[in-house]
Amino acid sequence: MNAPKKKAAAPKPAAQDIASEIAPGQSIELLKALHILTREGKLNQDSRRKLKQVYHLFQFIEKLLRELPATDAGLTLADHGAGKSYLGFIIYDLFFKALGQGRIYGIETRAELVQKSKELAAELGFERMEFLNISVAESTESERLPERIDVVTALHACDTATDDAIAFGLRKNAQAMVLVPCCQAEVAACLRQNKALQLARTPLAELWRHPIHTREMGSQITNVLRCLYLEASGYQVTVTELVGWEHSMKNELIIARYTGQKKRSAAERLAALLDELGLGSLLAGRFPLPATVRA
Ligand SMILES: C[S@@+](CC[C@H](N)C(=O)[O-])C[C@H]1O[C@@H](n2cnc3c(N)ncnc32)[C@H](O)[C@@H]1O
Repeated sequence: MNAPKKKAAAPKPAAQDIASEIAPGQSIELLKALHILTREGKLNQDSRRKLKQVYHLFQFIEKLLRELPATDAGLTLADHGAGKSYLGFIIYDLFFKALGQGRIYGIETRAELVQKSKELAAELGFERMEFLNISVAESTESERLPERIDVVTALHACDTATDDAIAFGLRKNAQAMVLVPCCQAEVAACLRQNKALQLARTPLAELWRHPIHTREMGSQITNVLRCLYLEASGYQVTVTELVGWEHSMKNELIIARYTGQKKRSAAERLAALLDELGLGSLLAGRFPLPATVRA
């Protein structure tokens, strides 16, 4: 009997295929340090996905950065819940580096990640990157950050860190905010507790009767409230998808551009939604609307 034929190995991607997946001017050393490229300069399945995700997000951010008016001191960007600072490093490498001015701040509570990012920035000569081992909430008042930050990013910053990033952006008069929210437990907990008082006896209450639905509805409602809050605070908001659903369940991308037009209708809808869902206690803390808009 003939020996079973061996399955032909999948062809390895040629070097030029990998080059076509990497942005022009991108530091190969950076991609290796971020473990996006292997030591041999290759991409694996996981890192290819990560690279695709970061590049996809970078395209949105680059467009916003290019639209902003130039300032003498250069643009500033704060990345909240930075983790290993993939995003900050890629933005610096592909945009800030060539400008020769401007500064990126990475905000992260895990000290070891902050230390590693500092070391990597020093190694690569990325002089205008700073990493702060503080929480997003603390960063709003920190003297180590400038009074004004042009662009705020928060990619999968945990739980309410996205809300803290929005508060930071408002306080710093950010021209743009780019948010990819993570899971959020605060609204779901309120929903669970109050079981949406006014809607409890309507069929709509079915939307969050089961615990898994309560959680998902909590996240969905949170993002809707965040968008309304941004619109009421003078931002034009676009909501889109970061990458295909197959890559991540948390891929909602919220892009907010400052126009200065504070939408009263958004403030009214925000207040009405909070009220109907029995979430009114959140209004004062999470979504403090200026009196002029609320009135
Ligand atoms: C899921 S990771 C995302 C990291 C990175 N943005 C990315 O997408 O690769 C979330 C990061 O946010 C950090 N983090 C969570 N809450 C934070 C807070 N309140 N302030 C600052 N960092 C926070 C965590 O330590 C973690 O590194």
